[in-house]
Amino acid sequence: MPTAVVLMGEADEHARARIAKESGLPVAPLHFPSTFDASGIRESASKQASALNEIVVLLSATRPVVDHREADRQFVWHPYTPLRGAEPPLEVIGAREEFLHLADGRKVIDAISSWWTILHGHLDPHLMGVLEQASRSFDHVLFAGVTHAPAIRVAELLLQTTLWSGGRVFFSENGSTAVEVALKMAYQVWRHRGEPNRTLFVGFEDGYHGDTFGAMSVGRDPLFFGNFEPLLFKVERVPVSAERLDEVLTRQAGKVAAVIIEPLVQGAGGMRMHSPWELRAIYEVTRKHGVLFIADEVMTGCHRTGPMWAFQAAGISPDLICTAKTLAGGILPLAATLASPAIVEAFDTADREKTFFHGHSFTAHPLACSLAAANLERLRNEPPTAPARFQQFWNETFAELRGHPRVRDVRVRGTIAAIELEVPGGYLAKTAQAMRACCLEQGVFLRPLGNVLYALPPFGTREESLRRIAAAMKKAVEVA
Ligand SMILES: Cc1ncc(COP(=O)(O)O)c(C=O)c1O
Repeated sequence: MPTAVVLMGEADEHARARIAKESGLPVAPLHFPSTFDASGIRESASKQASALNEIVVLLSATRPVVDHREADRQFVWHPYTPLRGAEPPLEVIGAREEFLHLADGRKVIDAISSWWTILHGHLDPHLMGVLEQASRSFDHVLFAGVTHAPAIRVAELLLQTTLWSGGRVFFSENGSTAVEVALKMAYQVWRHRGEPNRTLFVGFEDGYHGDTFGAMSVGRDPLFFGNFEPLLFKVERVPVSAERLDEVLTRQAGKVAAVIIEPLVQGAGGMRMHSPWELRAIYEVTRKHGVLFIADEVMTGCHRTGPMWAFQAAGISPDLICTAKTLAGGILPLAATLASPAIVEAFDTADREKTFFHGHSFTAHPLACSLAAANLERLRNEPPTAPARFQQFWNETFAELRGHPRVRDVRVRGTIAAIELEVPGGYLAKTAQAMRACCLEQGVFLRPLGNVLYALPPFGTREESLRRIAAAMKKAVEVA
């Protein structure tokens, strides 16, 4: 039995309607390039990507619903999810713009950009076209002793976003590895400079930097990482305060390699925000003590908070910058650690023992780099207006919640809005589940961080969807 009709070539609305009527089947067009120059192919590739997504959605809507829940439960181990007692996961069968299409026919707003990765929107036509084109030349190639134009371009574009003259970009695959690279580089710099006793790092309370061992050590969340405490390395943790940092760096003089911070917004720790002035004061303390400064921009990078990097609001210049999630538009995994000239200088030797011995199989994946180059060029040529627009919208719409008896705090920066409730917090707070369920009922997918309900939608989210997200969040505040 056919389940759908695919029309090859330019869409003819009349034919489409007639076939749909006569066959009773869903109809979707598949486009071909009208001209065979580069732009024709690109345009057609992006049209095809959209058309194919439409077909997938249509097909799955017409197929008998297969319940994958049992197979998922039997075979799959999901992140941050207990093996018993967890709610069955939502089955996504397609994603487009700010929406996730679910197997049960629902279309919900991806209001957290799929764990903060998707930057413009799902299946962004421009980036999908770039991917399609790049995949005709490349799959994957190693990156040791080998290079390729997409990676070189990304490195060049990333360095252009800094105030450095010089610097280098080291690629990896995700936020945790970008952080590991920064931590390892920071410590090795001190060894090369003849200060191997600088074995201590300083992180901030409520900071989160990933789930690998170095990242866990500087993040140190007792719930997430308590099981591994005996294996973690020594770290001092301080509140986000220049004075407290000053105390620690004074007490630990000569022992600290680097301070690591999520500039302006501590994401996973509950979307906790500090001002550019506080950030600048913290930076100045690290400078006073001659300690390296690592900006973990994995969540905040690529204009999520307004400027390209959140730290730019404070007018500072870190020694190491970590970026990941949105770097390739969120479409493929790619991460980078940007090293300032001072870091590079310490490694600038032919002495093999001073090599940075680190690398991952998929370092600088060519397809991800092609996407990242296109993404960074777009951000440079057309700085996104969404952060300022969303910020204004969040401030206006959530003004009524300031002073609300159930609300402890409302925090907004750029595309990010967070509402902290006056109920017990913690990642396992029951409130979180209730709020998530309430939002989902209204067609909005959110994952509250304990008693903190937040949204961080893709730049392309239309105003109507923003209003739906805000309405769902306000309702969740009432029912939670
Ligand atoms: C600030 C920050 N750093 C690092 C990470 C780890 O990134 P990944 O999950 O890609 O390893 C995250 C993830 O949420 C993050 O928010």
